[in-house]
Amino acid sequence: MPPSQWTPQEARGAAVFREHCARCHHATSTRALHGPGLQALTKLKAMPSGAPPTNGRLTDVILHGYGLMPATNLTNRQLRELLAYLHTL
Ligand code: HEC
Repeated sequence: MPPSQWTPQEARGAAVFREHCARCHHATSTRALHGPGLQALTKLKAMPSGAPPTNGRLTDVILHGYGLMPATNLTNRQLRELLAYLHTL
């Protein structure tokens, strides 16, 4: 979804992504950077780990880290915004 169609919440989520995730993940490509490209992430049947891209799994990966991915410290509000943004990819 193009940025012009983001809701205010999704736009704030994009800012959270730029600050906390973009150095390791492409958002608009499936090409790997340090971690997998996240384009169309929430439309996938399974993420690289094999887990489905539910908000529950995403929350767990983001807050606690996974494999080589470090944990990210976010407020509940930032997390909701980020999840909303990830659904636009
Ligand atoms: C320092 C680099 C780094 C940062 C920062 C980072 N990630 Fe990752 N991420 C990785 C790596 C590496 C993997 C693959 C982990 C593995 O397979 O061991 C990964 C995996 C993932 C996965 C796939 C999980 C699965 O179940 O397969 C998702 C989704 C993800 N990251 C989202 C995010 C989001 C959203 C953020 C921002 C909050 C973020 N990452 C921040 C490096 C990073």
